[in-house]
Amino acid sequence: MESDVVATCRDPIHAEALNTFARSHSLVNVERLDVTDNAAIDELANKYRAQPIDALINNAGITGDLDAQQLTSLDFDPFQNVMRVNAYAPLRVARAFLDHVTASRQKKIIAISSGSGSLWQAPQLRSLYYYNMSKSALNMGMRLLQNDVRARGVMVGIVTPGPVDTDMQRQIRAAAVKAGKPLTTPVLSAADSACALADYIERLGPDKAGRFYSYSGQETPW
Ligand SMILES: NC(=O)c1ccc[n+]([C@@H]2O[C@H](COP(=O)([O-])OP(=O)(O)OC[C@H]3O[C@@H](n4cnc5c(N)ncnc54)[C@H](OP(=O)(O)O)[C@@H]3O)[C@@H](O)[C@H]2O)c1
Repeated sequence: MESDVVATCRDPIHAEALNTFARSHSLVNVERLDVTDNAAIDELANKYRAQPIDALINNAGITGDLDAQQLTSLDFDPFQNVMRVNAYAPLRVARAFLDHVTASRQKKIIAISSGSGSLWQAPQLRSLYYYNMSKSALNMGMRLLQNDVRARGVMVGIVTPGPVDTDMQRQIRAAAVKAGKPLTTPVLSAADSACALADYIERLGPDKAGRFYSYSGQETPW
């Protein structure tokens, strides 16, 4: 199976924009993948076993219910769910596709992280315990992964996409308004963020691998 891009989503039948794009780009393949399903990850890796992957991008992420992750509302199951998608799944996907990445020319694994995972930024952050902790854990996982894959020539990029105008950002902003602390930082369009991330991925070299960067190219304190 040959393609330029393997784009995964949980519900391909209803991914209308993605399907439209794939129809006009013959080397874009859309595949179903829930990143919490280990068997499905391995099945997909096996299906594409002959295909080198230049850039493996772990983008899937969830915040969890924003009002239900305050100190007063802690609960293990929703915490585990956020950790599973945001911190464990990227590591699990990276392991499953490591040979594909190693066989490629660029050899890059990219984690879409968040400033919300930065301990340095914590004093300014709303305490979204599950989401913020999951992104810190993601950063550590990817930092350790870099140690393990360096000998294969693989580079791990850890990058924040900026405040992007997506469902997630709209949900965060609505909750901030509700909490009486509206966010005033301007949002980026998905297209502008994607262009900046493409540029970051293109420029990712051994000097930046295993380190934490923002979409704008600045190194971010852990
Ligand atoms: N938007 C921002 O301002 C911002 C800022 C910092 C970091 N980020 C990070 O950027 C990434 C993308 O976020 P977004 O803003 O695009 O959020 P979004 O609008 O909520 O989209 C999240 C995406 O993750 C997918 N997803 C969730 N759980 C999944 C699972 N179990 N398996 C496979 N896919 C799953 C969703 O798929 P479905 O469509 O199937 O639900 C959706 O496509 C996330 O990692 C997020 O933490 C975003």
